[in-house]
Formats: sequence, C-alpha cells, structure tokens
Amino acid sequence: MMQGHTPIATQINSVSHANDVLVIEWADGKTSRLDAIWLRDHCQMPVSRNPVNGQRLLNVIDIPDDLTIAKVAQLGDDRLEILFLPEKHSSIFTTQWLRDNCYCINAAIDDRSASHKILWQGDSFADSLPISNYTEFTSGSAGKITTLQAFSNYGFALLTGVPCEPGRVLEVIGHFGFNRKTNYGELFEVRTEIDPNNLAYSNLGLGCHTDNPYRDPVPTIQLLHCLSSSAPGGDSILVDGFRAAELLRQENPEHFATLVENWINFRFSDVDADLVSRAPMIETNDLGDVIRVRYNNRSIASVKLPAEKIRAFYAAYRHFGEIIERDSLKIVFRLKPGHVVLFDNTRIMHARTAFSAKGKRHLQGAYADLDGLYSTLNVLKRSA
Ligand code: FE2
Repeated sequence: MMQGHTPIATQINSVSHANDVLVIEWADGKTSRLDAIWLRDHCQMPVSRNPVNGQRLLNVIDIPDDLTIAKVAQLGDDRLEILFLPEKHSSIFTTQWLRDNCYCINAAIDDRSASHKILWQGDSFADSLPISNYTEFTSGSAGKITTLQAFSNYGFALLTGVPCEPGRVLEVIGHFGFNRKTNYGELFEVRTEIDPNNLAYSNLGLGCHTDNPYRDPVPTIQLLHCLSSSAPGGDSILVDGFRAAELLRQENPEHFATLVENWINFRFSDVDADLVSRAPMIETNDLGDVIRVRYNNRSIASVKLPAEKIRAFYAAYRHFGEIIERDSLKIVFRLKPGHVVLFDNTRIMHARTAFSAKGKRHLQGAYADLDGLYSTLNVLKRSA
C-alpha cells in the first residue's frame, strides 16, 4: 500500500470485515472494530448528511435490521469504501474521519465538565484575575477569544471600561450570545430598595449561592454591570463550585453521592411568580464528572426526602455549605464603575459583603446562556 505523506495515525496496515463488523489495523498498532450499524448511521455521503451543515438526514429506524457489510475497498491511501446489504448502499469514509471518530480509540468526552476545566481556589489568581478591556473585547476576534476562553476555563471573566450607562449590560451579551429574559425583566437592578421582594435588592450581605435554582432550566450565565459603588462594603466574592464539589468528593465520597442522588425542590414565589424546580445540588454526567451545581439556601423549598435519608442529607448539605464558605476558596474583589463580571451560573457561586445604606451602590444584572457563548467561542476559534 502506498502511504505517501499520510500521518502514521491514519495509515492503515490492514482492513478486514465480517458480516457486521469492520476491523482496521492501524499502522501505529491500534485497532478499530466498528459495528456495521454504527458505520451506516455515521455515513458521510450527501444522501445521508446535509453537505452544508453536516446534519444527519438518515433516520435510524430506516436502517435495515439485517444490515451487513458486503465489501470493503481501500481507495488510495486515505479513503475506504464500504458496501452495505441489503440496501446496496455504498459509503466512503476518509481514514482521518474513521480514526478521529473511532469509539475504540477515542473515549467520549464532555468538555464542559469539571475534569476539562481549570479548577481554582482563593490563591489561584495571585497575579491577576482574568480581566480584559471592553474595547479589546469588542474590537476583534483575538480579544473576544481571550475573554471567552478565560470564561470557559475558569467559569468567569471580568471586563473593564464598559460605559456606565443603564442597559449596556445587554450590549455586552449581544457580543457573545443572547439575553435570557425572566420575570425580573431583560435586566434587573441590584441596589438598595425599600421593602425588597428579594434579598438581593437589600444592602444585606449574601452568602455564596448560584442564582435562580428554582428555574428549569436555570439561567446559565449571569452578568453584573457596576454603574456606581460609592457605598462602603459590597465587595464581590466568587467561589468555584466545581472545586467545592470535588473537595466534598475527596473529603467524604458518601456526602458527595448523597447530594448527587437526593434531589430537592427549589422555589421562589412572590405576587407575580411561583417558580418551582426539582434538581440535585450536585449534578454529574454519565462519566461521573461534575457538570452543574445549585446552591442557594434562600430558595430551597421544603426538603421532602424519605425519612431515613434526612439526617444523611443534612450532614452532606452542611459539609458542602461549610466547604463553600471557606475563605481559602474565595476570591474577593471590588466591582468598580464600568466593570462587568460574567460567570457561569451552573459552576460559580457568588456572594457579596454587606454594604452601607448611606452610600450608593447600583449594579445592573442580566442573564444569558452558555450555549450562545460556547458557540461564539467555537466559531471564532475555527479561524484563529
Ligand atoms: Fe445572586
């Protein structure tokens, strides 16, 4: 076989097939054993895939249940042609595609889960926080990639120099995604209010929490834009909830499992809204990796678990709450006028210290979602 300049990882030593499996022995010693139904379902031909966006046109229920591989042929050194019966359907795959997508060699990954993030604690940003200037963020793809990649890695990023004008937080969102409007409106005001319907609108300190766990789905990004901050106090605190969850797992695996397995209800109700969700405090994926945390003592509804689980739940809940409030996990900084902090509300817990009612503190907050941000980052990185 002529191998030319094909990278070794996509060079094939031999190809064989049985009725329902294709076996590729790669030049680097690895082996792919690919089932016929998987190959047929992943057919890359225009009849099976939209050539523009790669969307699958084939419905799995249309694949014959007596599907077999009748013939396999190498086309040059970089493609394989497979003939399927009884359809007499011919699929051509590049060796690169087969190698990249082979489930024998490449395990599934969830790149939004904790093991693919940079987990941090209080002293992780001794040199500087992930901070960029708004002009750099808006003036080209490099600046935007820097900020959005920092957000992806650490779960938060800061922007400076955002004009101190009401509504500008929505403009910031427009640079990477879409606003999530809620019953609080397109944006919400965070400042001292007389008789607030939500503690966030008072001058009290707030413990570490994620926002709105009572929504399903929760808003997955929160932004806070500082318009004025002359009041003493009111410093911002962030904690990496993924790091806190991993610490809980290390310190007491049973406590970790308890918060994964025992779902609870969250609720917010005022005169205009009655929002209820049911979810775990720590959510893992099929690989056991942490993908979401929800922690907000203000909005946990009545805990209704089987009686024999109540004590174990509270032991785990208290342990998690104690970890989250450790000073060693917190970063503390002061939002100044023109600053915007954006954070992943499925990962990062936020808090603030109490502030004096005598000065002025005015933030505008808004919600957005991770899918838009990650899409923007992925598209920008294609051509970077
Ligand atoms: Fe909050």
